[in-house]
Amino acid sequence: MNQDQLKQLVGEAARDEVLKLPAGQVLGVGTGSTANCFIDALAPFKSHFSGTVSSSNATTERLLKHGFTVLDPNEVTQLPAYVDGADEIDPFGNMIKGGGGALTREKIIASMAQQFICICDASKQVPVLGAFALPVEIIPLAKGVVSRELEKLGGRVSLRLSKQTRSDLEQTPSQAFVTDNGGWILDVAGLKISDPAALESHINQIAGVITVGLFAKEKADVLLVSNASGVSRLTF
Ligand code: 5RP
Repeated sequence: MNQDQLKQLVGEAARDEVLKLPAGQVLGVGTGSTANCFIDALAPFKSHFSGTVSSSNATTERLLKHGFTVLDPNEVTQLPAYVDGADEIDPFGNMIKGGGGALTREKIIASMAQQFICICDASKQVPVLGAFALPVEIIPLAKGVVSRELEKLGGRVSLRLSKQTRSDLEQTPSQAFVTDNGGWILDVAGLKISDPAALESHINQIAGVITVGLFAKEKADVLLVSNASGVSRLTF
């Protein structure tokens, strides 16, 4: 089974998981290729939910295309579950997220939800977080000062650039990737994150940081993880 098939498999397992929730509630929906598989699998059953809250413009667009109702998070007071992928997840349910740049809204929606259902293939499971460069969303004018603070932690910091085609690059120099919130992303490589909760708190305190892509306070409650022999369900 290739990685796309594993994502599809876990997307279908997540559909079955959320359809066990009582009907008529709102569902939080994440961002990325695995979350997309979940959205596509859930689409025929959308009437089970009164609406969704979305973690990015890309997810909103996909949900609307399938005919889901997308609500403003400010209108929602009860969110039984949030379903999203991860870039890495450790044996305790702590995660690195933000590979797709949607970490801030993902963390907001996760904080509203009673349970975070993480969906991924087994390649995302790691003993210690940090092989995947840690995304940190920042206010653009704070790039210099935040980069220096992150370097003090031992990381190698790079500004995420927007994906450009070769012909774009010939005409204009590389430009910063801009998030849905108008922020920039610093990717911090080379960290070995033995205490995710402490590092999350520390980075949150740096002036100019909008959100760090460490999800320790908002860690997974349930993990659905696919490999060649099927989908396993873990709880934390
Ligand atoms: C986006 C995310 C994604 O959940 C994460 O990057 C995993 O994406 P994919 O399912 O495409 O591997 O955090 O900001």
